[in-house]
Amino acid sequence: MVVPRSVAVIMDGNGRWANNAGFERIRGHERGIDAVRTTVTECAQLGVKALVLYAFSEENWARPKHEINLLFKLLKRFLVKERGTLMDNNVRLLHSGRRARLSKDVTKLLDESIGLTANNDGMCLSLAISYGGRQELVDAMQTLAREVAAGKLSADAIDEQAIHNALYQPSLPDPDILIRTAGEMRISNFLLWQVSYSEIYVHDICWPDFGKEQLHEAFREYGRRVRKFGKVT
Ligand code: IPE
Ligand code: IPE
Ligand code: MG
Repeated sequence: MVVPRSVAVIMDGNGRWANNAGFERIRGHERGIDAVRTTVTECAQLGVKALVLYAFSEENWARPKHEINLLFKLLKRFLVKERGTLMDNNVRLLHSGRRARLSKDVTKLLDESIGLTANNDGMCLSLAISYGGRQELVDAMQTLAREVAAGKLSADAIDEQAIHNALYQPSLPDPDILIRTAGEMRISNFLLWQVSYSEIYVHDICWPDFGKEQLHEAFREYGRRVRKFGKVT
């Protein structure tokens, strides 16, 4: 097993897990929280430096209102309940995404947990909430355009590093591995800039059933990949 430095996960299949078990979709999201705790703890203990979890996309705002409300209720509960898990594992919490559509109580709890864990120097965990890859690039381009308009940046100075620095969490390295559960072979607007050379690993299992064993399996597969970055090996 090779432990990647940076991991990103599209946590998909909560609804299907619930359907298969004869439950309401929300039961899948509830069980998904347990899988989040397991993955965060295990990644931190294995020495992963950065973990980005896709929890709610910009496009997920188009879901039925009651599902959105329940998802954010679970998120708020997670933000309070798992503070001990984050502290015990020396995890620093970050947020990737747009804050504008998040409710005040969500941003408050998020900021409290971010503040509480700010001095932890183990793994960085970024929760992608109200996140879209295209929207992140739009926001980054606006940031850079404003700097150019203000005379602080010349257009010629916009290079890959400048774009990286304008992303939501520039301190995070690009993912070495992108894991997706529940079998779909698509990116769903996640980290479009950052995954240019990530190893993609799709597992058929639904997110609530993704545990330590599946994480280790992903890291073993990662260890077998030959990363070439366009070169001849
Ligand atoms: C992933 O599970 C969680 C979120 C997108 C919030 P889904 O809710 O997408 O589950 P499926 O894809 O319908 O099974
Ligand atoms: C991606 O899953 C978003 C999250 C896991 C938060 P979706 O279920 O929203 O993606 P699609 O609709 O299947 O592409
Ligand atoms: Mg889905």
